[in-house]
Parts: sequence; C-alpha cells; structure tokens
Amino acid sequence: MFFKILVLVSLLAVSAYARETSFAYNGFQLADLTVDGTAGITPDGLLKLGYDLQTQQGHAFHPYPVQFKNSPSGSVFSFSTTFIFAIRSQFHTLSGHGIVFVVAPQSGLPWSLPSQYLGMFNETNNGNTTNHVVGVELDTILSSEFQDINDNHVGIDLNGLTSAMSAPAGYYAHRGKFKNLTLISGKAMQVWVDYDGVEKQINVTLAPINVRKPDTPLLSLTRDLASIINENMYVGFSSSTGSVLTSHYVLGWSFGVHREAPALALHQLPKLPQIAKKETSKVLTIGLPWVVLFVISMLILSVVSVIRRKRKFAEVLEDWEREYGPHRFNYKDLYIATKGFRNQELLGKGGFGRVYRGILPTSKIEIAVKRVSHESRQGMREFVAEIISMGRLRHRNIVSLLGYCRRKGELLLVYDYMPNGSLDKYLYNQPKITLNWRQRFRVIKGVASGLLYLHEGWEQVVIHRDIKASNILLDADFNGRLGDFGLARLYDHGTDPQTTHVAGTLGYLAPEHVRTGKASRSTDVFAFGVFLLEVACGRRPTEIRDAEDVILVDRVFSCWDRGAILEARDPKLGAEFVEEDMELVLKLGLMCSHSDPLMRPSMRQVLHYLEGDIPTPEFSSIGSRLTFGHHQGFDDLAMCPSSMDKAFPQSSSVAESILSGGR
Ligand SMILES: *[C@@H]1O[C@H](CO)[C@@H](O)[C@H](O)[C@H]1NC(C)=O
Ligand SMILES: *[C@@H]1O[C@H](CO)[C@@H](O)[C@H](O)[C@H]1NC(C)=O
Ligand SMILES: *[C@@H]1O[C@H](CO)[C@@H](O)[C@H](O)[C@H]1NC(C)=O
Ligand SMILES: *[C@@H]1O[C@H](CO)[C@@H](O)[C@H](O)[C@H]1NC(C)=O
Repeated sequence: MFFKILVLVSLLAVSAYARETSFAYNGFQLADLTVDGTAGITPDGLLKLGYDLQTQQGHAFHPYPVQFKNSPSGSVFSFSTTFIFAIRSQFHTLSGHGIVFVVAPQSGLPWSLPSQYLGMFNETNNGNTTNHVVGVELDTILSSEFQDINDNHVGIDLNGLTSAMSAPAGYYAHRGKFKNLTLISGKAMQVWVDYDGVEKQINVTLAPINVRKPDTPLLSLTRDLASIINENMYVGFSSSTGSVLTSHYVLGWSFGVHREAPALALHQLPKLPQIAKKETSKVLTIGLPWVVLFVISMLILSVVSVIRRKRKFAEVLEDWEREYGPHRFNYKDLYIATKGFRNQELLGKGGFGRVYRGILPTSKIEIAVKRVSHESRQGMREFVAEIISMGRLRHRNIVSLLGYCRRKGELLLVYDYMPNGSLDKYLYNQPKITLNWRQRFRVIKGVASGLLYLHEGWEQVVIHRDIKASNILLDADFNGRLGDFGLARLYDHGTDPQTTHVAGTLGYLAPEHVRTGKASRSTDVFAFGVFLLEVACGRRPTEIRDAEDVILVDRVFSCWDRGAILEARDPKLGAEFVEEDMELVLKLGLMCSHSDPLMRPSMRQVLHYLEGDIPTPEFSSIGSRLTFGHHQGFDDLAMCPSSMDKAFPQSSSVAESILSGGR
C-alpha cells in the first residue's frame, strides 16, 4: 500500500514535468524566474530589465527547460508566446538598446555583451550556428554593423544580431491599414510570437495594449528552426541598455507549446510607474498644447477686440458730407472725451436724447455731446445741411453748435459746454429759490434777443421749434442761451402736414402749429410766451393740482381778469421783484401765447417792450381777443394733443363764460 502511493506520487511528478508546456504571468509577483544582471522584479510585480544603469544587461528566464522536440533530430513543435512590455527612457527621443524574447540553450546568456549585442551574443560568437539562439528583438537603436533598418524596429534573430527579417514597429489595423508605433513611447504594447511547426513559419505581431491581436502579423518568416532549437530549451528575455538611462518593463507573459499562448488578463497587470523624471518632455507634451491653445485664444480675442473696436467706433460718412469736414467730429474722440459716454458724464435726458459732458482729447475744450437716435436716413442730408449752417450762427444768447458726427441710427451733436445747466432746474427747485428776479429778467431778455437773432438777425430765418425752460441753458455768468434749435425739425421731416404728428413740446405748441403742422416765427413766439409765464410764475405750463389740470395761461389770465395779475407771480420770490417788470413779463406772456397768430407780437416788438423802448401795450383793449383765442387753442391742446376732432371744439365753457362776460 505504501509502495503504491509512492509510485503514484512519482508518476504525478513526472506528468507535471512533461506537461510543463504552458504558463501565464499577469504580473510577476509570484513568478518563479531565473534572473541575472540588471533584471529583477519590482514590488508592484513588474519584470524590470535595465535598471536605469548605463551600459548594462539583464536576463530573466523561465527556470525550467521546455521540450521543443521529440528527439534531437525531430522537428520543432508549434509554440506560441505573448508578452506586454513598455520602454521608459530618460529622454523622449533616445533610449537604451532594446529588449529581446529569446529561446536559448541555457537559462541565461553568460558570454554575452550589452549595448548593441542586446545581451545575446559577443563579438566572436555572433552569427555562429553553434549558438542555438532564437530571438525576437525590439530594437530602439540603429546598429549599422548588423544592418539594422532603423532605430525603431522589430526583428527575428537566428543565432546572430543581423536579423533574418525585420520591420519598422507598427501593426496592421482594420482593413490592413498600417499604423506606426514608437517602441520608446513609454506606452505598454503587446507582442505575439507564433511558430507553426508544420508550416515552419514564425509570425511576430505587435499592437498597442488594449488592441485586439491584428490578423496580419508584422513579420512572417518561413524557416525551419529544427537546426537551431534543441530538444530542450529555455525561454526568457534579454535586455541591454546603452549610454541612455532606460527601463525595460515586462508586465505580463504567457507561453505554450502545442497550443496558443494563454491570453493575458489585462486588468490584472501591474501598473507602470508614473512618469516623473521626464519633466522637460512633460512640459512639452502637456504644456505645449496649452501654450498653443492660449496663443490661439489670444489671437482670436485680439481679432474679436479689433473687430469690436472697429464696430464700436464705426461712423456713417457719406460723400455729401465731405464739405462739412471741419464740422465733422471723430466718434472715437467723442467717445474718449465723454469717457465712453459714462453715466457720470450724463448732463441730462432731453426729448431728443441724452446729453453728456466731455473734454476733447487734444484741444481740452469742454463740450456737451447730444446723442440723438434717428432711425431713417431720409431727410438726413437736408437736416445736416441745416444744422451745419446753423452752426455758423454766433450770438451771445445762443449755444454754439461746434459740429456733429453720424453713426448708424444715431446723430451726435457737439455743443459748447454750459456750466450752469438748463434753466428749468432753477425754476422748480421747491421751495428753495435759486434764481432771483433780476437774474430771471436778464435771462428773459437774453433769450428774447437770441430768438430775435434767429428770426431776423441772420441771412435766413431760423425757427427754433422747441422753446421751453429746459432748452434754455445758463452759461458761467448765468446768461440765458438758446439751445437745441432746429432739432425738432429732424422729427418733422417727411411728415404729412395733414397728420397730427408734430414735434415740439406739449404745452408750448401753438394751436395753428398743431393744426397745420407748420412751424413759423409766430409759433416760436407762442412758445416764448408760455416760457415767459413759466419764468415769472415758477410753474410748468400744465400742472396737475388736486387732481385737476391747471393750465398756467388760464391761471394768469384769471388773475389778470380779476385785475390782480401780480398774484400769478412765483411766490418764492417774495417781495424781491420789480413790480413793473413782473407785470410786463406776465402781460407779454399772455400776449405772445395768443391763439391767433396775427395777434402775437414779433420778437422785435417783444424785445422793444422788454427794453422799455415802447410803453407797455394797452392790455385791456386786447382783452376779449386774448381771452377768446387763447382758451380755444391752449386748453384743448393740453388735454387732447393728438386728436384733431377734440382739439378744437367750437368753444369751451371757460371761453363762453368770459365771452358772455362782455370784455
Ligand atoms: C563569446 O562567447 C563564447 C560562448 O558562446 C565564448 O566561448 C567566447 O569566449 C566569448 N568570447 C569573448 C571574447 O568573450
Ligand atoms: C563557431 O564557433 C565554434 C566554436 O565556438 C568555432 O570553432 C567556429 O570556428 C566558429 N565559426 C565561425 C564561423 O566563427
Ligand atoms: C511610419 O514610419 C515610417 C518610417 O518608420 C515613415 O516613413 C512613415 O511616414 C510613418 N508613417 C506615419 C503615418 O507616421
Ligand atoms: C502566420 O501569418 C500568416 C499570414 O497572415 C498566416 O497565414 C499564418 O496562419 C500565421 N501562422 C501562425 C502560426 O499564426
């Protein structure tokens, strides 16, 4: 019984030895290998050959012989091996020599040399048939003495370093498309070596890791290996480095005789070390794309900003404007002058647009820039012509127009800067009084003389079209100056006189202006009359008090009617006013805002009255006409400015009562 068991055990041992024709290592932690030289197994389980030392070699062999033949003279069995390797070099473009899968008579290559000899042969035995060595080399150096094809090739070596067959590293991908591989890329790649013992054909195939074994081998050499491979041989790896620090790693390896090498379990393979030393290449490979990206995005940004700048400062300049060259302002200059039309530079918002303060970049002149949005180009030519000719108007009571600039949908008018702003803000500063009667009277006289200049003092008649307190500006000495003249015309253009679209300001529009759409000197006088009352009374032309529309002219008229016209005056003035002047201004206001244009005085007459050249007109005699006309127009206009039907009923109740009053 005891004997029987012994026999069984020895049989098992023998069979184990004989069947030792296949193995697989997914990592080498537990592998039994014979190593020498620089070869070793890392704690992670990587087989590492070439320990970063210069001019060294190393070998790692399966420790047991493999039976390749039945007898010394027999034919070589089919065998197959596959392994995964990676070559990591100190430099990106250079490396140590290479790594070889070898079939050799011993589990080592004792007489071999490093460097170009790949740890396989020496000077004297290279190429000698007595070597009995088969190698598949992954060679990264061009050694011309062995007729290497390049410095990145795969070769089949039979007893010597001059390859029996070699090809540049690469693989045939889908549909036979050849793709290059770089052995020293540091990336893991897989090699398959298959020998067909019947066909006497050795195939070598290479592919990146994770790529299925290509159908077409990289090398396919028909050669009977019977004379080279002995009955029992050892299989393993040889590696040699040169003057460049290089590590050759094998991550996994399997081998089989009479069968295909067992497939490697890729997920079980040990991890390659992080590339730490290659800082320069890292900077190049990782940094360069970022640098390129950065440069490209900077380029795009600058192109975009140039385009945006161009668009930002784009102007509209047509041929007909050439003659206005001296009056033409550069948009960029205006943009700089107003600090980009900043809100802090905003002086006010008028009916036609916003006004900004600015300082011209070169001349340092203070300006006010009015941005008028204007959609249509229609009538622009005439308008600009008019504006420019008005730009030649010079009078101490007129705000000088310095020039203009035109952009798409926008017109910019450049005026003298008036440090004290517009008059209206002084009038309605409840309850503070910021402008005394003497100053107000001076402003009134100034505006009257400015308006007279527009109407009569120049080669052509200029209609202001929009006289009101907010369009009267005060210079440094509190002189009243007319601004914004003619601007209303921009909105009048092309409008049918039959329509009710009339530019100007509600409360200042003469009834016939609304009716005919035509502005004239006497429509200006009408507005001036309203303006006079505004200044004297410190009230707006129409106000809502106790939920009722209070029309300023009505109020003044009723005071006058009661024989107490002075009661209409601005109460903020207190007793600080000149009675005759106040009465004159109030009466003149009523006279000018007469609904019948023929009843209104001309600006020349107005100025004479104001200067005291003509005695105050006999107001009582014009009373009834004043009453009638005024009420009919003004009252209704104030309430229904856009409806012609309602604007002019035959009479209003107030008018009737005054009429029946018999004045
Ligand atoms: C080369 O190797 C052979 C064995 O293969 C050995 O006999 C010979 O002495 C070696 N030559 C040198 C120069 O090392
Ligand atoms: C091959 O090596 C053997 C013994 O090492 C030697 O006798 C023979 O001359 C060598 N042949 C050549 C061609 O070098
Ligand atoms: C592949 O490598 C060869 C030389 O090894 C070269 O001539 C060829 O241009 C390379 N092909 C590509 C696509 O890089
Ligand atoms: C070697 O490659 C050739 C050509 O692709 C193929 O016909 C043959 O079957 C392959 N032999 C082995 C053992 O893989």
